[in-house]
Amino acid sequence: MGKNDIQELIEQTLQIRDCAYAPYSDYPVGALAVTEDGKYFSGCNVENVSYPAGSCAERNAIAAAIAAGNKNFAFIIIAGDLKHPTYPCGICRQVMAEFQIPYVIIVKENKQYEKIALEELLPHSFTAALVKNIRSYK
Ligand code: THU
Repeated sequence: MGKNDIQELIEQTLQIRDCAYAPYSDYPVGALAVTEDGKYFSGCNVENVSYPAGSCAERNAIAAAIAAGNKNFAFIIIAGDLKHPTYPCGICRQVMAEFQIPYVIIVKENKQYEKIALEELLPHSFTAALVKNIRSYK
């Protein structure tokens, strides 16, 4: 994927961020999950007055892809505060590990971005393979 394509997807992610419902934190986040076969799924954070009922942009984007029948992801773009870039929370990292999303693209100021491998964000992750191994002992 070329640099121009990435810039276009970043623009799209910033537009998704504008849709965030974040009246409590005032911290809007947009995410774009890109599948291996080149489909795009949007997610933004959706907060709630009962704070724990809120959900993150990344998980909402992943859920939208799953609901449309897509489980194979290429990467996910995340745009929160560009000055102090938004790295995914621990729960979202775990969900990314579930679907083996290889890397994320974090949007920064001035059309800059950072690509980080999930392996770096969540080393030694707890995976389905571990659970299956334990089950096989029984
Ligand atoms: N948030 C996300 O949507 N994604 C992240 O990676 C970090 C945090 C949301 C959750 C909450 O609505 C707001 O940002 C402040 O924590």
